[in-house]
Amino acid sequence: MRTTKLLAIAILSILLNLSHINAQSKNVVVDFKKPGAPIQNTMYGIFFEDINYGADGGLYAEKIKNRSFDFPQNLMGWNIFGKVTVKNDGPFQNNPNYVRLAHSGHDHKHTGLENEGFFGITVEKDAEYRFSVWARVASDNANESFRVELVDRDNHPFGAENITIDSKEWKKYQLVFKARKTEMKGKLRIFFTSKGAVDLEHISLFPVETWKGRENGLRKDLAQALYDLKPGVFRFPGGCIVEGTDLETRYDWKNSVGQVENRKLNENRWHYTFTNRFNPDYFQTYGLGFYEYFLLAEDMGSEPLPIVNVGLACQYQNGCCEAHVAVGDLHEYVQDALDLIEFANGSVTSKWGKVRADMGHPAPFNLKFLGVGNEQWGPEYPERLEVFMKAIRTKHPEIKIIGSSGPQSEGKDFEYLWPEMKRLKVDLVDEHYYRPEKWFLEGAARYDSYDRKGPKVFAGEYACHPRNRKNNFESALSEAAFMTGFERNADIVHMTTYAPLFAHVDGWQWRPDLIWFDNLKSVKSINYYVQQLYGHNAGTHVLKTSENKVPLTGQEGIYASSALDKKKNEIILKIANVSSEKRTLNYTFTGLKKGERKVTHTILTSADADIENTFENPNAVVPSIGSMLQKDNTFEVEIAPRSFNVYVIKL
Ligand code: AHR
Repeated sequence: MRTTKLLAIAILSILLNLSHINAQSKNVVVDFKKPGAPIQNTMYGIFFEDINYGADGGLYAEKIKNRSFDFPQNLMGWNIFGKVTVKNDGPFQNNPNYVRLAHSGHDHKHTGLENEGFFGITVEKDAEYRFSVWARVASDNANESFRVELVDRDNHPFGAENITIDSKEWKKYQLVFKARKTEMKGKLRIFFTSKGAVDLEHISLFPVETWKGRENGLRKDLAQALYDLKPGVFRFPGGCIVEGTDLETRYDWKNSVGQVENRKLNENRWHYTFTNRFNPDYFQTYGLGFYEYFLLAEDMGSEPLPIVNVGLACQYQNGCCEAHVAVGDLHEYVQDALDLIEFANGSVTSKWGKVRADMGHPAPFNLKFLGVGNEQWGPEYPERLEVFMKAIRTKHPEIKIIGSSGPQSEGKDFEYLWPEMKRLKVDLVDEHYYRPEKWFLEGAARYDSYDRKGPKVFAGEYACHPRNRKNNFESALSEAAFMTGFERNADIVHMTTYAPLFAHVDGWQWRPDLIWFDNLKSVKSINYYVQQLYGHNAGTHVLKTSENKVPLTGQEGIYASSALDKKKNEIILKIANVSSEKRTLNYTFTGLKKGERKVTHTILTSADADIENTFENPNAVVPSIGSMLQKDNTFEVEIAPRSFNVYVIKL
């Protein structure tokens, strides 16, 4: 009896052990013989919106806040002293305000003004800054003059230059400063130094060294961080700011092009959307406008994807109807969309193509995609979209149109809109999801069952939102696991863009975000590295990957997909292990010839689920790279617990 019992226990423990081994080791088959769907070059991209001071105060390198005195409070961002008056008949029709500085009547009473910048004016030791201003003499004198100073946080000037204004006509004056020291929280001060009066407009300070060295350019480290993602598509300019809180404040792209001084200021709804993150000085100058967006897309090698307003102001913030353009009155909105296509692609002799050419880009931007509407819902959306579609399809059948499935990843609005988008035959449907880890892990199989006959999918805004809303490792790993589902379903998922992209540490409204920055430095989140690993290892064709003929969508914590890169001649394996155990994966590549091949292994891993990359520790979790060999048609890999792995096998 005792022997039988012992035997039973021994057998049970062997079985238990075996099942443990089985759980830890997986036989994965990759079909190399028959590469599957092509992976679009738009598959992994970026979405830019001026939220969290992403544009003004962020990517747009201008350091002066309210440079044209056209904020509703004309002197917001400025301190004035002495005799300063705001006038409104300036040289730029769309931004008519400027300041007049006059002598106080007493040599010891000074006149001037100082700007606080965006969370301070920050300059770096030895870097050069271009100060510019539009000015005219406003007295009977032939000349007037003023001094421009950089002032540090302790109120000490540490760099000054004099400017003489020599004309009664408006003219642009500029000079270049070299900063003698680094200052995070400085200001720019202007001292009037002559006896009469001078008018000043559009007072600007830019680093000389911007992305690609352009004047009116982009902050170099931030633009470089975008470039380094290798984004296949660039969606802009929003987001909710496309819709506006009301139609008057929607993003009107026509106000964002042409001479920068004359681009009409708009409010930024993110200044008041969350009262617990309230920023009343947050406006859109459109210094970073549609021309600059197209240029950036071109620089990054990404397909530009502008979104236009569909005649609906933000549906969250408005009840039904009063903030909508009647279906019969959409003409201006539809024309804006058609004109945008002309601006991007039209010949230099066309009205809007000429605007582009005059701005410095005679060659077309080669626009292929257009999104109509952001997060819309209800029948009011398809009935308006239909009007746009007819006009765009007639005039520009070459443009692919993107429709919306609403703000949710499932539910009533989503269920209503997808069939509507199919009925209207949009080319792609934009889906948005900001969801917790569990949703992302369970959602890795989301697209496996999507209808293959309808429009393609554009995951236009997504991010894993942990409870504490941090850009922690757990969220990044969940996204990495979920994204294997994008790749596996590349026949239907054609575009994806994480959101939002940027956040200023001193002025954010929404998190998590891909890249955090202050006025000097930026930090790439762990989520950024996940995006980068996908962007750099996108592949050109899906390779079917399965265990027992079933895709790996979380069995024992393993998510896996594979791709072939026909151009680089590589097999790319992506594997996320969300369990806290290591796993052994035995790959077999059917159809792969015998031979020995070099493999590069990149891993992103941490035992700490809540860890983040921070300013103090920007490299807390970054990819690390190793190498190994793969032989014949098999490959055994040990996958570390809680890790995302990319193996690139050189064929
Ligand atoms: O990405 C932040 C916001 O989220 C976008 O503006 C909007 O489309 C969504 O609600």
